[in-house]
Amino acid sequence: MAGRRILIVDDYPELVRMLTLQLTAEGYDVTTASTGNEGLAHIRDGFSGVVLLDVKLPDIGGLDVFEEIKRLAPDLPVIFVTGHAALDLAVEATRRGGFDFIAKGSDLTKRLNVAVKNAFDRLAMTEQLNSLRTQLSDQGHFSEFLTVSPRMKQILRTLESVVNSGVTVLIEGESGTGKEVISRAIHAAGNRKNGPFIAVNCAGIPEPLLESEMFGYEKGAFTGANSRRAGKFEAAHGGTLFLDEVGELPKALQAKLLRVLQDHTFQRVGGTETISVDVRVVSATNRDLRTEAQEGNFREDLFYRLSVFPVRLLPLRERPEDVPMLAQHFLRRFVREEGKSLVGFSQSALRMLSSHPFPGNVRELENLVRHAVIVAHGSEISAEDVKFTLGSHRSSFSRPDPAGAVLPKVDPASPLEQRLQAMFPDIDSLLPMQEVQAAYLQLAIDVSEGNVSKAARALGVGRATLYRRLKDDAPPDDGGL
Ligand SMILES: Nc1ncnc2c1ncn2[C@@H]1O[C@H](COP(=O)(O)OP(=O)(O)OP(=O)(O)O)[C@@H](O)[C@H]1O
Ligand SMILES: [Mg+2]
Repeated sequence: MAGRRILIVDDYPELVRMLTLQLTAEGYDVTTASTGNEGLAHIRDGFSGVVLLDVKLPDIGGLDVFEEIKRLAPDLPVIFVTGHAALDLAVEATRRGGFDFIAKGSDLTKRLNVAVKNAFDRLAMTEQLNSLRTQLSDQGHFSEFLTVSPRMKQILRTLESVVNSGVTVLIEGESGTGKEVISRAIHAAGNRKNGPFIAVNCAGIPEPLLESEMFGYEKGAFTGANSRRAGKFEAAHGGTLFLDEVGELPKALQAKLLRVLQDHTFQRVGGTETISVDVRVVSATNRDLRTEAQEGNFREDLFYRLSVFPVRLLPLRERPEDVPMLAQHFLRRFVREEGKSLVGFSQSALRMLSSHPFPGNVRELENLVRHAVIVAHGSEISAEDVKFTLGSHRSSFSRPDPAGAVLPKVDPASPLEQRLQAMFPDIDSLLPMQEVQAAYLQLAIDVSEGNVSKAARALGVGRATLYRRLKDDAPPDDGGL
């Protein structure tokens, strides 16, 4: 914690005296400097706290002092204090990353308290994130799986012991907890890292297709099999095969998989040749596979083969300490992708995020931050941005999907009027225009996987228009989350 130290760099003694009096009365510990060089000397000596900087100093220009402070101690919030004549300089300073500026004048005292308090909030948050980052850096392997949770770290430590062995790992965890991330990390950390990492999604593919996808096929094995084709097991030779959603694997394929795990051999679809492979199998499921096995929905012998080393990833609500760190990580990524200049979250925005239960886990947080970055103006994401974003994401993650129950079947090829009529057949089913537009814009972004340009193109509007409408259609404040 930085304490509550303030450094005033200003050459106007009357003002310095007044500011010192006021800030000391508020309980701050004030240091003063009357030139830029003197101020910088304090920073070089390790000053930590908030800087109040005059834009016009006798020796060096305020902006140059600021650039030097940023170089020496990039995390220190700098509040510019300026006369009205130099207002444009102060605006330029905040554009370059100054925390805030206050104009000398009648409401200086009032503005000062607020600005200083905000600056200390920011400082506390930066320090918290820095300490989380330090904790991250001692994570060893699995650096792609970001976590500061002691329980998750303990789980990762136990995983360390098997990265170089060929034992099967079964990763269990709710949707969006990072099962795929950890699978890739296991591969990347072990001695197979120079071999291939091949993923197969076992869900949603009809059995015959999945079989040929996994095991390949011979020419003539079925109509359309014009040439021999290797499957994923062959492709993963020397590396790792990731079986995602393994709980969905059809029974017949469960038997075939069991054989590969037992003797490392299989036959292509329509083939007789026995093929040997050296593949490490990592699988993932969001079901309780042990119970599924006990209830006869999944082969028990296969369950034991797959879960020689079982790992259960904690849902995000059981590791709330990961939320600020992951939020900041995603923020940096989306700020880069969206070309915005946001630097972080306000304290209250972070508090709001930390108290959200995240039924969609890390993926939900990721989507949420992406959305908040899109709608935010200013230099940080505010509680209001988070609240708006939580409001529009609530439907997609928290509610059970009522689609099958209430929505009538509509032929996607029918004209728009018919499709609307089917959805809103009478006056009671109509929704306010603004709500429909907001939901439709959000839907467009979701189905474009967060790619705003793509969503804008599909809607036939410009990117800027889409951003503006998203902002305009923020649901009215309902007083809660
Ligand atoms: N610890 C983490 N560090 C960084 N990013 C993470 C972490 N955990 C999850 N993510 C990100 O969250 C998203 C969801 O992760 P992932 O796809 O691995 O989840 P999953 O458990 O496989 O989900 P599902 O069961 O829905 O397939 C991804 O975009 C991933 O990059
Ligand atoms: Mg997954």
